[in-house]
Amino acid sequence: MKKITVIGAGNVGATVANVIAHKDLAREVVMVDIKEGVAEGKALDIWQTSSINNFNSRVIGVTNDYLRTKGSNIVVITSGLPRKPGMSRDDLISTNAKIVKEVTEKVIRYSPEAIIIVVSNPLDVMTYCAYKAARKDSRKVFGMAGILDTGRYRAFLADALKVSPKDIHAMLLGSHGDTMVPLPRYTSVGGIPVTELLNKEEIDKIVERTRKGGGELVTLMGTSAWYAPGAAAASMVEAIVDDQQRIFPVAAWLTGEYGLKDVYLGVPVKLGANGIEEIIELKLNKDEMKLMKESADGVFSMMKVLDDMNMFED
Ligand code: NAI
Ligand code: 2OP
Repeated sequence: MKKITVIGAGNVGATVANVIAHKDLAREVVMVDIKEGVAEGKALDIWQTSSINNFNSRVIGVTNDYLRTKGSNIVVITSGLPRKPGMSRDDLISTNAKIVKEVTEKVIRYSPEAIIIVVSNPLDVMTYCAYKAARKDSRKVFGMAGILDTGRYRAFLADALKVSPKDIHAMLLGSHGDTMVPLPRYTSVGGIPVTELLNKEEIDKIVERTRKGGGELVTLMGTSAWYAPGAAAASMVEAIVDDQQRIFPVAAWLTGEYGLKDVYLGVPVKLGANGIEEIIELKLNKDEMKLMKESADGVFSMMKVLDDMNMFED
């Protein structure tokens, strides 16, 4: 049984810890926050559901005490500011980069072997920030966004087609932002290509709503989402803990795949006990490749903003 740490006990962090505990994925789940008492309180609340929901994963909360995270197998980083209405994910870069760098360095000190899953926004750049801070194999440092975006896309398609979301298979690539790359060609409903069930205009509308899916929730709630993000991150943890070899869209460090190099971008990967076991290269057509390139260009420019902050010695 594994030990899992979740950094940040806010909306997303507490939800990740809650789902991990409910699925009994760990011997111990440690939540860390900087706000005195918050992680402790939420952990106690979750632990008090153990006899009701039938799980044994011991959930513990601490304030800034990284010694308690020692020997973690997986660390999920959710610390940082969420978006408020009118903000883009990119507006968060300078504040969240300092937080992600600091927490990654602390985590690595006590759990050098841990696989790191980044959730903090702007996602692709924060994953790059954690990679630079962790100084580890990129197959063990990656980001969660594609599962969330695909989850939204599948939910909207399920509503439009009046079918179970479970029967919809889809792949959505690129960055976690307005330039994400949905692939209707790789979307099927009970094995039937979605392009045979909905016309282009209907698919385009769903794709557009998916692209703006995070913003739709920020407008409704005044802060960003947590149930679907938390469940998405926990499904990555589950794939690693159970060595499931699941194929998920994940923000991965590319070294030539899709003709792109030295950038974190959402691509299909096989997730298992070693983290990213394999990056899968789909055969994209010219238009899809153009969208991937545009998405990567957006991430490159944000990575440059981070590099220009001179936070890392090379
Ligand atoms: P939140 O404000 O509810 O929680 C963030 C927590 O981080 C707070 O409790 C705060 O005290 C803590 N924190 C701040 N600095 C810290 C530090 N140095 N060490 C430990 N804890 C620290 O925010 P929420 O909604 O949980 O979102 C967290 C992050 O995840 C945001 O950056 C948000 O944009 C991002 N996000 C990313 C998604 C994705 O798909 N990748 C989806 C949803 C949110
Ligand atoms: C989301 O997509 C804000 O990235 C966050 O909900």
